[in-house]
Amino acid sequence: MSMPILPIIDTDIFASSPSSIESVQECKKAADALITFGALILHDSRVSEEDNSTFLDLLEDYFAQSLAELQKDERPELGYQVGVTLENTEKPKCAVDEPCLNVIARLDPAERPLDIMGHNPDPKCRFFWRMSEKPPYETAFPSLNAANVVPQAEHIRQRWTPVMEKWGQAMKTAVESLAQMAAIGLGLPQETFTDAGRYGPHLLAPTASDLVKYSKKDTILAGFHTDLNFLTIHGRSRYPGLNVWARNTGKRIPVTFPTTGRYLLVQAGKQLEHLSGGLIKAGYHEVVVNDATLQAVERRKASFTDRPLIRISSTFFCHLSSDYDLAPIPSLQARAQAIRADAINLGKIDLDEESDYPPMKVGQQVQK
Ligand SMILES: [Fe+2]
Repeated sequence: MSMPILPIIDTDIFASSPSSIESVQECKKAADALITFGALILHDSRVSEEDNSTFLDLLEDYFAQSLAELQKDERPELGYQVGVTLENTEKPKCAVDEPCLNVIARLDPAERPLDIMGHNPDPKCRFFWRMSEKPPYETAFPSLNAANVVPQAEHIRQRWTPVMEKWGQAMKTAVESLAQMAAIGLGLPQETFTDAGRYGPHLLAPTASDLVKYSKKDTILAGFHTDLNFLTIHGRSRYPGLNVWARNTGKRIPVTFPTTGRYLLVQAGKQLEHLSGGLIKAGYHEVVVNDATLQAVERRKASFTDRPLIRISSTFFCHLSSDYDLAPIPSLQARAQAIRADAINLGKIDLDEESDYPPMKVGQQVQK
């Protein structure tokens, strides 16, 4: 049986002539990809491969620093909401979350994620770089006023801010285009999602996994989970290892990018699931060390002998604004219910149990 692959959506058609027939078709394809897979590959010519590479180099250099140097960038007093979070701090919630464990139980054993039950915190480090715009109104969820942390070491410090901002902005622009395309494809006004997320606490939040220390096949770098934000976007990593699950097929899909070209991966998060009344489900995913990861390590070792062997994931979390009233959009919720009824009639199983989406502020959903 052939391996399922994620649809590729092109933002260029939308960016150049948003009202053309081709663009409208591409928007429909984007919405359908999110409904079926909860994830898609985005092609965006505005995103430069060189910028991705510059960003990955900087983050590899950063996380190759000594523990003592990295600890200078920790901000435990601010709940680690800016700066660095060192490994073994972030815990996957799924292992103690019944609905999530039920999703795993319902998967065919051959399609299940690596076992998270004995898995303690994720062996990955993260850096949080805030990329939000301050709302012009009084907010019920005053976000952190703390400034972003700029690392101190000379060889990192000068490069840091411009590189973080440039790559972060590129991913933000790309994910906002996709959000507008998805809105059109779902029959909503183009700005529906981007307006709702205008003042969201967006984060550029790259992760780092030490592939010297964690070089054993089947090591879990990030255990099976969904993201709580609206949409997550990643640049191409130098090392494979990300698996996503398509909601309606129950298949594990190893994410592969075309080897060259300007591609990004987009995944749906819980805020989009809530807003769409479950029409689009937050995508489950994991990051593991598999054969393809180890092959990439060997290739990288051979061709870049002096570079650190660290897997960087250039994650950008796009959020809805904290004060936004999160409630299912009626047309989407109706469609979600119709799909569910069809699936039941056809005897198909859905990975998730039916959930309800009570109205709440986005800020409350995040706190929960
Ligand atoms: Fe995630």
